[in-house]
Amino acid sequence: MSLNRRILEWRDQRVWVVGASSGIGEALAMALLTRGARVALSARRAGELERLAAAHGAQALAVPLDVTDAAAVLPALRRVVSAWGGVDLVVLCSGAHQPVRAWDLDAADARRLVDVNINGVINCLAPVINQLLQQGAGGVAVVSSVAGYGGLPTALVYGATKAALINLSETLYLDLAPRGIGVYVINPGFVKTPLTDRNTFAMPALISVEAAATAIIAGFARGDFEIHFPKRFTLWLKLLRLLPYRWYFALVHKGTGL
Ligand SMILES: NC(=O)c1ccc[n+]([C@@H]2O[C@H](COP(=O)([O-])OP(=O)(O)OC[C@H]3O[C@@H](n4cnc5c(N)ncnc54)[C@H](OP(=O)(O)O)[C@@H]3O)[C@@H](O)[C@H]2O)c1
Repeated sequence: MSLNRRILEWRDQRVWVVGASSGIGEALAMALLTRGARVALSARRAGELERLAAAHGAQALAVPLDVTDAAAVLPALRRVVSAWGGVDLVVLCSGAHQPVRAWDLDAADARRLVDVNINGVINCLAPVINQLLQQGAGGVAVVSSVAGYGGLPTALVYGATKAALINLSETLYLDLAPRGIGVYVINPGFVKTPLTDRNTFAMPALISVEAAATAIIAGFARGDFEIHFPKRFTLWLKLLRLLPYRWYFALVHKGTGL
């Protein structure tokens, strides 16, 4: 039995994608528009959002938003709800990444990552949950990462923010699923985007944004709680996580060369 409502038909679904100006969020928004959903696109770069929405007429709505500005979220959500009378699925995909080793840790840089990746998601969740509970239907998806499964070199702060989002999503599911609200956590492996373009190491099982969007849509169709991909990479990481730390640390050093 699936843990969430299976989303098989996207026609007329009202979806809000936060972090839709590039990368995975953009590709997902475009794939959902192609399948007939109405999609509101949010991120900071208003020009990019307008450009993406322009090609889809009334089916798409550009709603600029900086998720670190907590007071700006409710007005943005109200724009989506007043345009369409409600929202069926909210995908929180905004995020930032800064590769860092232990000896380069900078507290101000770390705070910026925490602010976008954790506080930004929480800023969005509070009004979104309220809206979904008022509707008595709908779902929310949090984009985390396999970097949240366990400690990995260069993911010093990023991995911690993503571990927090996985934990947060589990607790959201426990609270909201019994009330008929869907909760999904999306854990991608490596996807080629501006965010990963700054990685200097060879990324195993790297996939395109289009493949990531297809995998996410397949996960919604199965009604999965955790949507993780590509499986040839994520299943190994899950297995690694089950090992005693002595083996985990040795295999991560060996696998990454770091
Ligand atoms: N690429 C991967 O391999 C990978 C793997 C696992 C997880 N992820 C996660 O997937 C998500 C998308 O990342 P991506 O790889 O597609 O990178 P990306 O192309 O850099 O996309 C990041 C998105 O977040 C938005 N964003 C950043 N800061 C924001 C803010 N303060 N307020 C609102 N929007 C903001 C960006 O738009 P603006 O700059 O216009 O605001 C952009 O639309 C992130 O949460 C990332 O951690 C990515």
